[in-house]
Amino acid sequence: MRGFDAAGHTAAAGTRKDSVMTRKILVTSALPYANGAIHLGHLVEYIQTDIWVRFQKLRGHECWYVCADDTHGTPIMLRAEAEGISPEALIARVHAEHSRDFAGFHVAFDNYYTTHSDETRFYSEDIFAKLSAAGLIEVRSIEQYYDPLKKMFLPDRFIKGECPKCGTADQYGDACESCGAAYAPTDLKNPYSAVSGAAPVLKSSDHYFFKLSDPRCQAFLRQWTQEQERLQPEAANKLQEWLGVAGDNKLTDWDISRDAPYFGFEIPGEGGKGTGKFFYVWLDAPIGYMGSFKNFCAKKGLDFDEFWGKGATTELYHFIGKDILYFHALFWPAELEHAGYRTPTKVFAHGFLTVDGAKMSKSRGTFITAESYLTQGLNPEWLRYYFAAKLNGSMEDIDLNLDDFTQRVNSDLVGKYINIASRAAGFIAKRFGGALLHAHSNERFHADLPGIAAAAEEIAGYYEGRDSARALRRIMALADQINQYVDKNQPWQLAKSAEHEEQLHYVCTVLINAFRLLTVYIKPVLPKLAQRAEEFLNVAPLHWADAGHLLPPAHLINAYEHLMQRIDPKQIEALIAANRESLAPVAKPVVAAAEPHSPQRHAQHQQHSEDSVQAVANPWEPYASIDDFAKVDLRIARIADAQHVEGADKLIRLTLDLGEGAGKTRNVFAGIKSAYDPAQLVGRLTVMVANLAPRKMKFGLSEGMVLAASDADGKSPGLFLLSPDSGAQPGMKVK
Ligand code: MSP
Ligand code: ZN
Repeated sequence: MRGFDAAGHTAAAGTRKDSVMTRKILVTSALPYANGAIHLGHLVEYIQTDIWVRFQKLRGHECWYVCADDTHGTPIMLRAEAEGISPEALIARVHAEHSRDFAGFHVAFDNYYTTHSDETRFYSEDIFAKLSAAGLIEVRSIEQYYDPLKKMFLPDRFIKGECPKCGTADQYGDACESCGAAYAPTDLKNPYSAVSGAAPVLKSSDHYFFKLSDPRCQAFLRQWTQEQERLQPEAANKLQEWLGVAGDNKLTDWDISRDAPYFGFEIPGEGGKGTGKFFYVWLDAPIGYMGSFKNFCAKKGLDFDEFWGKGATTELYHFIGKDILYFHALFWPAELEHAGYRTPTKVFAHGFLTVDGAKMSKSRGTFITAESYLTQGLNPEWLRYYFAAKLNGSMEDIDLNLDDFTQRVNSDLVGKYINIASRAAGFIAKRFGGALLHAHSNERFHADLPGIAAAAEEIAGYYEGRDSARALRRIMALADQINQYVDKNQPWQLAKSAEHEEQLHYVCTVLINAFRLLTVYIKPVLPKLAQRAEEFLNVAPLHWADAGHLLPPAHLINAYEHLMQRIDPKQIEALIAANRESLAPVAKPVVAAAEPHSPQRHAQHQQHSEDSVQAVANPWEPYASIDDFAKVDLRIARIADAQHVEGADKLIRLTLDLGEGAGKTRNVFAGIKSAYDPAQLVGRLTVMVANLAPRKMKFGLSEGMVLAASDADGKSPGLFLLSPDSGAQPGMKVK
């Protein structure tokens, strides 16, 4: 028995050609810092890359996807110190967390490693030595702020002070978040160390520089950045800007060393001795791509040089966010080139994620961690679908609009695509014993649903160009076409009379075949769903080439179980609530600050500030000491009277008896009108802050405060006045 085939359709032609020309491709995503949780912003990148890699694999290419944690630098060192653990212990824990989060979103790395590895150390030393030998490393003494208490040099982000331009206090050493000015840390007024609070002093020290200003680097980068579509047009333009026109070189040398204490690799010196200096984290981070791949090669028996050796003909792609373009399109290719390695085939930059049109924010609850998304029970493929529907291969920012998210998943993904299977599956199971029609209807299929099979190559082209938005639009248009076919043929009507039995069987067979084709097309985006669809369809894992034929006649399918739930808007509300940081803004803990991205800071700092503050703040900090707590005098109070306040829509006037005797009472305005009727309150006991400084309000003097429980932001309905257990008397102290 022969299956239907789509011979003559471009799909078959394309896949045949493709499988002959197997490409060898190595793909990376940026290495996330090992001091914070993966959040939805990060996931834009890892999901985008994963879709592209899965697509290449489905096409039959040899494609490897490697990544690692970026484990070095001052923030990680300080973060470990703050937690009272070693940096090694911290990065081991974070490695497990990151691996768990990525797996949870079906991001399937072939290797997820760490930069704190022998392999990465080896290539860091190797590249450094080769650049030195090429005369591209220079030692220079520089003056920098030093924390005399902590005995360490301070990266820009660890120096704070008043903005030299607008005077706003507590601004970072590289840029003002209030007025946007960019400056050097030495420009700050009244600078202090964000690590210890001490006033920093200027101190000089020897640093190693990579001589980017060298004419060789200049000439190479001018060419490399503008040739062979290595960069997106927007990125290539940025690079032009950064490089400056020939004859007016804008590139300056890059400081690649840091002084102890530092968590990283010590720079080797003469005669096997250490220099007491460390490679700056951004020196070894991209080398971590090589380290991870080297580690993978050892496990897999692959040839490292085939992918990294000079003149390699394999393809190498880096997926990154636009904030780190400088590192990947300038420093990195220049290093590789002059150390005798191949350079990347292309660098793909994406934009930044906003949520509901604004930067992700902890106070709004839109700084959503991967972990919270999963533990709240949201389906990771919803997000994969939504991101894919937004990503078009450009550097534009993408917005996660939460209403649109719900709407698109529910009406497109579930309502259009999944619906096709559910509309046909029941009939096949109940009426035809789970078997498709036993007859050839190859031509008829293509006549009934023209273009469904032939769309394979067009869609493949969109994925190849990272325009998954367009791929999904095309797939959803096909789904519309198929659903129209259902509406036209009305299987539920056909099912009503025995004479239409054959026609019903035919229509359902067409639908199952069409569903299978769409499953091939959508599989890079929705791997888990595709797997479940394959089980339902009773087929081996689908490859792209499978779009070139249909299921065999009389093929048996399995019972249908609903493949995907719709999003309940309540789930989104719960997700936001779970991520909302309730407490009044506290000073950002120093350990959460980003590794400075200088010398890029002038162009990029705005991008990177909040996003790179990894979600690590302890919500309970700053702690209150026992003495702080003892200052608050809490007492049991009896509500002697409660009245509406004329002209106030939130307040109730409470007359509180604290057992002070002689008819002495306190007047307190409480914002509890939304939850209580004054009449209900009279006579009951509650808890009040008795020593709160009296406050003059529009309606009179308020002499204290009553305690009530509410949801963290006070926005959700529900306000609950505290009551003591029975037996408590007015005036009793609460502690
Ligand atoms: N450790 C460096 C990368 C070293 S690569 C040799 C770093 N880490 S990061 O954790 O801050 O970011 C990792 C990747 O996630 C970067 O490509 C970054 O652009 C991306 N994103 C982080 N926040 C993001 C958004 N809000 N939106 C989109 N991508 C974002 O940078
Ligand atoms: Zn300012």
